[in-house]
Amino acid sequence: MKKLHLLFAASVVALTAGGYAFANSDQMPPRKIEWHFDGVFGRVDKQAAQRGFQVYKEVCSACHGLSRIAFRNLTEIGFSEAEVKALAATYQVKDGPNDAGDMFERPGIASDYFVPPFANEQAARAAYNGAYPPDLSLMIKARPDGANYVYSLLTGYGTAPAGVHLSDGQYYNPYFPGGALAMPAPLSDDQVTYSDGTKATVDQMSRDVVTFLQWAAEPEMEARKQMGIKVLIYLAIFTAFMYVAKRNIWKKIH
Ligand code: HEC
Repeated sequence: MKKLHLLFAASVVALTAGGYAFANSDQMPPRKIEWHFDGVFGRVDKQAAQRGFQVYKEVCSACHGLSRIAFRNLTEIGFSEAEVKALAATYQVKDGPNDAGDMFERPGIASDYFVPPFANEQAARAAYNGAYPPDLSLMIKARPDGANYVYSLLTGYGTAPAGVHLSDGQYYNPYFPGGALAMPAPLSDDQVTYSDGTKATVDQMSRDVVTFLQWAAEPEMEARKQMGIKVLIYLAIFTAFMYVAKRNIWKKIH
C-alpha cells in the first residue's frame, strides 16, 4: 500500500512539473474556442467554411498551397458544380507532355487539385528568408490542438516585449514556438468582402479560415461521427434485446 502511495505522489509531482514546464516554455498555449465541429455531434458549419475558403483564396493562397484538395471537393461544403467549374477555370494548371513532348498550361477543370503558389520549396524559401510557408491541407491535424492553435496564431500578433530579439523578416507572435516567425500578420479588418454580409473582422476571418481548414484536413469527419452514433444506437438496441432474451431463457431454467 505504501508503495502505491509513493507511486501516486511521484506521478503527481511529475505531472505538475510537466505543467509548469509548458507554462514556462517560450510558446503560449492556444486560446480555447468553441467550434461547431467539436464534440460527438460536431458538424462543419458550411457557411463559415465557404467564407473561410474565400479567405484562403484571397489571402493565404498567395503563400500557402492546398495540394490535397481538388476543386470538385468544394461541393462538400456547399458550392454548386457550376461554381466549382467556374472557379477551376480561373486557374492555369500544368499538364502534359503533349505529342511534341512539351508540358503546357491549360485552364483548370473540376478534377484538378489546387495549384501551389511556388514552383518548388526552394523558390518559396528564397522568397521568405529561408522559411517555408507549409501546405495548409493537413495543418489542423499536423499541430497539437490544431484549430485553436491556428486561430490563436492568426489573431495573436503583437509587439515584441523587451528581451525578444527579432531578426530581419521576423514577426512577434507568442503562440509560435520561440515567438518569432517569418509570416507577417496576414489578416487585417475588412481585408475580404463577404457576400453574405458578415463583418470581416480579423477574429471572424480567422474563425472562418480555421473552419475551412478543419474541413480540408478531415473531410470525412461528419460521416465518421454519424457512423459512431449509429453504432452506439445499434449497440443499445442490441443490449436491450439480449437482456430480454436472457430473462426469458433463465425464467425457464428456474
Ligand atoms: C506573405 C506570405 C504569407 C501569407 C499571405 C500567409 N502566410 Fe502563413 N506562413 C508564411 C510563412 C513564410 C510561414 C513560415 C513561418 C516560419 O516558419 O517562420 C507561414 C506559416 C504558417 C503556418 C504554420 C505555423 C507553424 O506552426 O509552423 C500557418 C498555420 C499559417 N502560416 C497559416 C496561414 C493562414 C491561415 C493564412 C491566411 C489567412 C496565411 N498563413 C497567410 C507566409 C504567409
